[in-house]
Amino acid sequence: MRKKVIAGNWKMNMLPNETISFIEELAPLVKNTENEVILCVPYTDLFYALLTAQNTNIKIGAQNMHYEENGAYTGEISGKMLKSINVDYVIIGHSERRQYFNETDETVNKKIKSAFRDGLKPIVCVGETLEQREAGKTEEIITKQTELALAGLTNEQVQNTIIAYEPIWAIGTGKTATKEDANNSIKSIRNKIAQIYGQNIADGVIIQYGGSVKSANAKELFEMSDIDGGLVGGASLKAEEFSKIVNF
Ligand code: PGA
Repeated sequence: MRKKVIAGNWKMNMLPNETISFIEELAPLVKNTENEVILCVPYTDLFYALLTAQNTNIKIGAQNMHYEENGAYTGEISGKMLKSINVDYVIIGHSERRQYFNETDETVNKKIKSAFRDGLKPIVCVGETLEQREAGKTEEIITKQTELALAGLTNEQVQNTIIAYEPIWAIGTGKTATKEDANNSIKSIRNKIAQIYGQNIADGVIIQYGGSVKSANAKELFEMSDIDGGLVGGASLKAEEFSKIVNF
């Protein structure tokens, strides 16, 4: 049985003092869950988040990293740096990074390999645009993105990769994929992984849904056969609302 993994993606929101109060409020609300709880916070909040989340079941992640360990990359942060302060997870290839910061399937693949090299667990985002969906290309696009993202990884690394299926038209728009649609897309990703790495590996990979997840729709989505939790943006910015999603 795969466990459910609920990750918040704060994007470019929250200051250190807000981070501390958020985690102090969230911790007691989620302490009894069997689901995995992750908060992916801005770099400037990481240290405060890690300290405040000590001795809780809340894990902390970053939202991006560079694939080199160090060097002349002004403004960048490496996986090695994240690991050095005990960050556990890192989001890679979020559609906003692909759209605004020139992330490609190739850089996504490099970053995933580096994340494993540096001892981090990647949460890798894939998803189609509205145009691609309307052209009937959803499955083709998301399975190709998955294949390219995972290229060259060992079976064990694939098993330890979290994939977040996030239809771009559903992110931050209040529009959610229907639970059937989301489940079918996730099944197609899982089938692609099975084709390449075998059914056993595919059956163990955590694949989340993301895109306007909130407490009102979390349960119906997360109860579907192939949806293993969610990557939550806007609704992860309020501790009480996020706790309801975690405890769906
Ligand atoms: P949303 O964002 O929940 O605000 O739609 C999800 C995401 O971008 O990861």
